[in-house]
Order: sequence, then C-alpha cells, then structure tokens
Amino acid sequence: MALELSLRHGPLAQRLRSARKTDSLPRAFGLPRRTTPPTVVDAMAGLCRDAMVLAKLGCQVTAIERVPALAMLAAAAIDGSELGTRLSVQTGDAETWLAGLSPEQAPEVVYLDPMFAESGKAQVKKDMQVCRALAGPPDDTASLFAQAKQVARERVVVKRHPDLPPLGPGVSFAVEGERVRFDVYLR
Ligand SMILES: C[S@@+](CC[C@H](N)C(=O)[O-])C[C@H]1O[C@@H](n2cnc3c(N)ncnc32)[C@H](O)[C@@H]1O
Repeated sequence: MALELSLRHGPLAQRLRSARKTDSLPRAFGLPRRTTPPTVVDAMAGLCRDAMVLAKLGCQVTAIERVPALAMLAAAAIDGSELGTRLSVQTGDAETWLAGLSPEQAPEVVYLDPMFAESGKAQVKKDMQVCRALAGPPDDTASLFAQAKQVARERVVVKRHPDLPPLGPGVSFAVEGERVRFDVYLR
C-alpha cells in the first residue's frame, strides 16, 4: 500500500491549493479575524496534512509526531518547499516536548487530532490506514490534553468525530466541519 504525500499532485496538493481561512480548520484557529497568524504546536501530527494547511495559511507550526516513519515522511514532503519555512517537523512525545517549553516558548495554540479522519477520497483513506497501522492503537489522550491546556497561551483546538463527546469539559465553542467537529478551548 503506497502513501502519496506530494505537494505537487494528488489529494494533499489539491487540499493545499484550495485552502481558505474560512474553512472549518482555520476558523477554529481564529484565522479569518486575525491580522497575524498564530504560533501553533500540532501535538499529534501524523502525516502533517492539517499542519501543512495551517502553515500554508501563514501559521508558524511545530509538528510533533512520536512515530519516526510518519515524521520522516512529512519532513521529506516539505523539504526545500516554501511550506518548510513555516513548518518544522519533530519526532518525539508531545507531552514531554510541551512540558519542556519555557513560558516564552509557549505557542498560542496547541492542536490535537486523535481521530484518523478519512475523507471520501480513496487515496486519503489508504494513507490514513497506513498511518493508523504505523501509529498503533490510540491511547488515552487525557494527560496530553491536560498538558496542552496548561501550555497554550490562547487556545487548544481538538478535532473530534461529530458523534463523539468532547475530549474534556469546558468547550468554549465548536466549529462544525463536513465530517468532523473542532472543539475550541479558550484560555
Ligand atoms: C490521527 S493522526 C493525526 C493526523 C494528522 N492530523 C494529519 O493531518 O495527518 C494522530 C497521530 O498522533 C500521534 N500521537 C499520538 N499521541 C502522541 C504523542 N503523545 N506525541 C506525539 N504524537 C502522538 C500518533 O502517532 C498519530 O500519528
């Protein structure tokens, strides 16, 4: 099963070309109303597709992925591209990484995507299956979520399946997407 993570052609390239600040993901980050895009830590980066969209729209993004193969694939895809000037991919455990930040280094937004969303496109579904196989069974994200809330200077954004309850209490507002919901926790 081959992964397709190209910035030039295929579903990711198409998604990046058509990305707008008014789409549901950037709306959850407040992009339509901001003059300066926020600094973001994507603490469950996977193949960094969401992180790439945020970087494309001007956010400065650090993406943390604990599975080295996934982080390497994402880093290779952006290598030498303009996107790579705003997106840095790191391998490691995000909870430990966030705990090591000084207050000055804290990002405005921490993003969590525990859901392996599958869009209707066959290639994206295949990519997500590979991603899920490499990542292994999902574990309890409660302590990463707590750490994210402690570190984020402005908000935590969590991607959820529309049928699932929020990851934790205290949702400030939710942005409904086509097949997902983004729960926003403001500080
Ligand atoms: C659903 S995928 C994210 C997909 C991603 N939003 C994208 O656009 O490609 C979730 C990822 O979070 C990673 N992950 C889970 N817990 C983590 C942790 N504590 N630190 C770093 N990565 C973690 C998993 O390895 C998995 O690759």
